[in-house]
Amino acid sequence: MDTKVLMMNELNMDLNQLEEAAQIIRSGGLVAFPTETVYGLGANALDGKAIKRIYVAKGRPQDNPLIVHVASQDISDYVTEVTPEAIDLMNRFWPGPLTLLFKKSDLIPHDTTAGLPTVGLRMPDHPIALALIKQSGVPIAAPSANLSGKPSPTEATRCIEDLSGKVDCIIGGNASDVGLESTIVDCSTYPPCVLRPGGISLEELRMVIPNIIVDPHILSKQEDPNIIPKAPGMKYRHYAPKAPVMIVKLSELNLTVDRINERLQELMNEGKTVGILATDETKSLYQDGIIYSLGSRNNLKEIAKHLFEGLRKLDDQQVDVILSEGFQEEDIGLAIMNRLKKAAGYHMISE
Ligand code: TXA
Ligand code: MG
Repeated sequence: MDTKVLMMNELNMDLNQLEEAAQIIRSGGLVAFPTETVYGLGANALDGKAIKRIYVAKGRPQDNPLIVHVASQDISDYVTEVTPEAIDLMNRFWPGPLTLLFKKSDLIPHDTTAGLPTVGLRMPDHPIALALIKQSGVPIAAPSANLSGKPSPTEATRCIEDLSGKVDCIIGGNASDVGLESTIVDCSTYPPCVLRPGGISLEELRMVIPNIIVDPHILSKQEDPNIIPKAPGMKYRHYAPKAPVMIVKLSELNLTVDRINERLQELMNEGKTVGILATDETKSLYQDGIIYSLGSRNNLKEIAKHLFEGLRKLDDQQVDVILSEGFQEEDIGLAIMNRLKKAAGYHMISE
């Protein structure tokens, strides 16, 4: 299949290009597009046949439901009940990196929700995404636009790398601002429950819903076979580069650096090429290896923005192993560590 690449300027969108992409969505095709979290791979959420094509293009397991993207808070066609808590969350965080789960209406096909009775809805905070949804005239189901299992794409070039030849169209824009996927909150049960940490932090959510609860699997240190995550997608080894990842998170930063340097030496003695996910504060302290700084430790948002691209950049350099510093699990740090732990298969040295 020929994949049409449309490069778009979000401040000055070409309306002909936008209509071309919208026409593809309306006729059952697949369009990758930028959002503020990560790039998404979109299809008409109301068209079961189009949805099936997303699963094929990504190599996505059939039991993993899709998030439906909307362009306003007028969601009454797609859900059967909107709780007061959901209204408060929409008012505070939409448009933005927050997905809410509702009981679905019959208009949403089972293919979109992988047979579940709930549907995840999100209004993205991105001019191209919003314009595409409006122009298409239908809600757009979109998982992250990576091949299943790989880190989510935060740059257009990564969508092209993963999906060229597999989808009808890729809209290229700037790098995604947030860099990690949306937070998912189940509003179909009471009290609402966080199923995936993401761009909106737990601290921010608690300001609106003080009694919000958290799916136990998010807080577990190890992969626990007895705790099955409620979001089906959270059970897969995810966000993973080709190279195995090990996280080091000791009580002091200098101990972490020393420990990474030690492991680096051992691996290099075995003839391995080692990638290091470092930070601006530590990048000059490593004795060798291919170093990628995620940004300053004083700015976790910057770390989040660069994490997936960092994993992909080290893969480009064909490293055999990736050693990563760990981060505090506060604010967006909870989502950063969630993605890192999944990339590492929970392989972590800590106290
Ligand atoms: O930021 C994002 O959310 C991005 C952009 C493109 O919007 N999308 C994204 O989609 O991350 P995806 O498919 O990569 O992740 C969706 C997650 C999966 O873990 C899936 O299992 C969960 O959402 N999910 C979707 N609908 C659900 C439902 N009804 N019940 C439980 N989990 C659901
Ligand atoms: Mg994904």
